[in-house]
Amino acid sequence: MTRPLLISLVSCLVAVSQASLINRCDLAKVLHQEDLDGFEGYSLSDWLCLAFVESEFNITKVNENTDGSFDYGIFQINSHYWCNDYRSHTENICQVECEELLSPNLLSIINCAKKIVSGAGGMKNWVKWRLHCAGRPLSYWMTGCHLG
Ligand SMILES: *[C@@H]1O[C@H](CO)[C@@H](O)[C@H](O)[C@H]1NC(C)=O
Repeated sequence: MTRPLLISLVSCLVAVSQASLINRCDLAKVLHQEDLDGFEGYSLSDWLCLAFVESEFNITKVNENTDGSFDYGIFQINSHYWCNDYRSHTENICQVECEELLSPNLLSIINCAKKIVSGAGGMKNWVKWRLHCAGRPLSYWMTGCHLG
């Protein structure tokens, strides 16, 4: 195999394996466009911290819980309450298929997250946000991000 071909093949594989990750400031931009800045009193930094502690910005992350439910996407939304994955009982409060929460345009997961954060407890519904983000200085999450 010629070297240029090998290099382009390798860089292509790298690009595919990273396609699930969204850049922090790109995420901030989408969240801003979808009016999450200040939504229910939470800043974009809260949302970035939440996305990082839940998924490390991995849009397609799926994680199985010990109770047999699954957490989906960048905000790790749980199938027992919020979305339907046809694998176990669900309340499906967001009226959405869990797979849709993995969409690269993020619109479905943002809509569902808005519903969750509008309910009792707000962002405390995410245990990791409460443990790692709540009450801490978070503005550094927005460092270097330009929304315009
Ligand atoms: C993102 O999550 C998916 C599903 O959990 C996993 O297969 C993939 O390796 C993750 N991507 C990265 C870059 O960690």
